[in-house]
Amino acid sequence: MIHKFQSVKGTKDLLPTETPRWRELEETVHKFISRWGYLEIRTPAFEPTELFVRSSGEGSDIVTKQMYTFEDQSQTSITLKPELTAPVIRAYIQHNLAKQGGTTKLYYIDSLYRQERPQAGRLRQFHQFGVEAIGSSNPEQDAEVIALAYLILLDLGIEDLELYLNSIGSVETRKRYRKILSGYFLEHEHQLSNVSRERLHKNPLRILDTKDKKEQTLLSNAPKIYDYLTQDDQDHYEAVKHHLTELEIPFIQHDLLVRGLDYYTRTTFEITSSKLGAQNALCGGGRYDNLVESLGGPPTPAIGFAAGIERILMAQKDTRTGEDKPDRIYVVCATENARDFVLKLTMDLRKQGLPVEFDALRRSLKAQMRDANRLKCTFAVIIGEKELDSETIQLKNLTTSEQKTVQLGTLITYLTKELKL
Ligand code: HAM
Repeated sequence: MIHKFQSVKGTKDLLPTETPRWRELEETVHKFISRWGYLEIRTPAFEPTELFVRSSGEGSDIVTKQMYTFEDQSQTSITLKPELTAPVIRAYIQHNLAKQGGTTKLYYIDSLYRQERPQAGRLRQFHQFGVEAIGSSNPEQDAEVIALAYLILLDLGIEDLELYLNSIGSVETRKRYRKILSGYFLEHEHQLSNVSRERLHKNPLRILDTKDKKEQTLLSNAPKIYDYLTQDDQDHYEAVKHHLTELEIPFIQHDLLVRGLDYYTRTTFEITSSKLGAQNALCGGGRYDNLVESLGGPPTPAIGFAAGIERILMAQKDTRTGEDKPDRIYVVCATENARDFVLKLTMDLRKQGLPVEFDALRRSLKAQMRDANRLKCTFAVIIGEKELDSETIQLKNLTTSEQKTVQLGTLITYLTKELKL
C-alpha cells in the first residue's frame, strides 16, 4: 500500500470552510490598524539564528527549546521565525526606516514557528498579527499600543477580555530583582516542582508563570518587582495607568507578569479571554527600549504587541451569517457541440468581472444543474443546439425557477443589472 502523508504534528490545513473567517479577520486587522497610522511590513520566513538568540535571550524558552533551527548548505545557522519583534527591528535598522523621522509605526500578519508540545490553542506553526511602535519612550505611546490591542480584540467580537498590566523596569532593575527572587525561591526550594527548580537555576523569573496551585501561594508572598523599580520607572508606570483609565480601557495590575522574552523593559501586558482553556493568552506585548541598540541600531525606545490568530478565532463568536454571498452564474453545456462555445462564453463573462462556473467533467445537463445548485449559483446560462443556432441563451433563475430566452448580445448587460455582486 502506498503511504499516505499527514501534515506534521502541530500544523494545520485551513480548508475552504475555514478560510472565509480568516480572510474576514485579516481584513478587519488591515482596516483597523491602518486607521491608527500603522504601515504593513512583511519579513522573510527565516532569519540568522543569532538574531533570536540575542533578542529573546539565551535562557528563554524560545531559544532553549522552541526554535526550528538548521544549517543551510553554506553551514549558516538559520531559524524559522518564532516571533516577529526581532525581525521587524532587524528590518527597521537594515533599511534605516528611522530616516523618515517621527515614530515608525509598523504592523504585520504572519506565520510563526515554535516547537512546542501541541495542544488546543498551541501549535507549531501559528499566526499572529501585531504592531511595533518605534521611537517614543513616553507613556502615551504605551497607552496607544495597549488600547489598540484591547479595542481590536473587542472589535473582533471577543468577550470576557482581561488586560493584565505590569512594569518590570530597566534591565538593571530586573537583574537586581532576579537575584532577590532567586534568594527567596532558594529558601523555599523544597516546595518547588521539578520544572520550577530547573528554572530557578536558569531563569527564576519564569517561575512566576507557574500554573501550579501549590506554587502560587508561594508566589503571593514572593518579592514584587514594583518595589525595586526606580522612581522614573514608577512614574512611567503610573502615567501609563493614568492614560488607560482616562481612555476607559479596563486593566488589572499583575505584579508577577514578567513575560518569557528577555527584551522587555518597563511596561509588559497580556490580554486573556475566559472563553479559552489553559492557553488563554490572546495577546502579549510590552516595551523594549534596548532592543534596537542591542541589534546594532542607534538607542531607540519601542513598544509593541502580538496577538495569536488561532486563539482569537477560538474565542470569537462565529458571527458570519453566510447570507451575503455574491450571486454566481453557471454556464451549462446542454449539447456536445456547445462545449467550445461554453468555455469561450465563461471566459468572456469572467472578463466582464462576473463570477462564473462551468463543468469540466462533461456531465449531463441534469448533473450540471445539480452542480449549479450545490455551488449555490443563482443563475444558469444554458446553451443547447437551438441556442447555438439562434445566438440566444436560456437564462434560468435558480432561486425562482423562472426561465427566459435572452439574446446573446444583451446577456452581459442583463446579468450585470440583475445580479447582486
Ligand atoms: P508572545 O507572548 O510569545 O509574544 O506571543 C503573542 C501571542 O501569540 C500569544 O499571546 C498567543 O496568543 C500567540 N501564540 C504564541 N505561541 C503560540 C503557539 N505556539 N500557538 C498558537 N498561538 C501562539 C511575542 O511573540 C512578542 N513578539 C510580542 C511583542 C510584540 N512584544 C512586543 N512586540
